[in-house]
Amino acid sequence: MVIIISLSTLEKLKTLKELYLYRSLGFEYYEESKKTQISPQASVPKGIEELKQAVLQCYLCPLCKGRKNVVFGEGSLKAKVMFIGEAPGVSEDNTGRPFVGQAGQLLTKIIENVLELKREDIYIANILKCRPPNNRVPTPDEAALCKPYLLRQIEIINPQIIVALGSTSYRYLSDDESSIAKVRGEVLHYKNAKLIPTFHPSYLLRNPSAKRDVWHDMLKVKGLL
Ligand code: URA
Repeated sequence: MVIIISLSTLEKLKTLKELYLYRSLGFEYYEESKKTQISPQASVPKGIEELKQAVLQCYLCPLCKGRKNVVFGEGSLKAKVMFIGEAPGVSEDNTGRPFVGQAGQLLTKIIENVLELKREDIYIANILKCRPPNNRVPTPDEAALCKPYLLRQIEIINPQIIVALGSTSYRYLSDDESSIAKVRGEVLHYKNAKLIPTFHPSYLLRNPSAKRDVWHDMLKVKGLL
């Protein structure tokens, strides 16, 4: 017997097969919100090395096509402070390391001069592990797909303090839409850690007068340590 399936049906079956595959990887689909979400049970490795290998081989979103390097994150696994940025830029994409461009150099100065710590003593990661084209802001879907990796990093590092750098980092971490100008410097709570949002170093490069605010926020971090 020959079964004739129209092309559109075939396409639907292919899509369905893919959806089943994604579900087996831990995705859940919520029709009401039309958002794709990853369940907390998503099979994200528990150890840092296994996690890194999984991230280096991640093809879950289209950013994998344009990346030169995955920027997993770096620093001490015993870090008491974890800085979380938005996404890799061109220098980070070229090197595979977070915050190594101009904004990164400023961040390093802040860590050394205000916190009086070495960069290697803290941990630095981003909401996204791959560079968005032309450094555009990460989309909600990209953030949702990448966030389980960051959440596992937070679980492994278990920092006392998380510093969210800039509005995108704060918003995707906390799901709070408040402006960064309003919440910066507040001591909030996130998982086991205190969460302190502050301005992104790139913003400081464009608005040097805001350095004073970040200085205050970092003194707060230092006081809490
Ligand atoms: N900006 C970020 O948010 N992260 C980086 O790693 C570099 C620049």
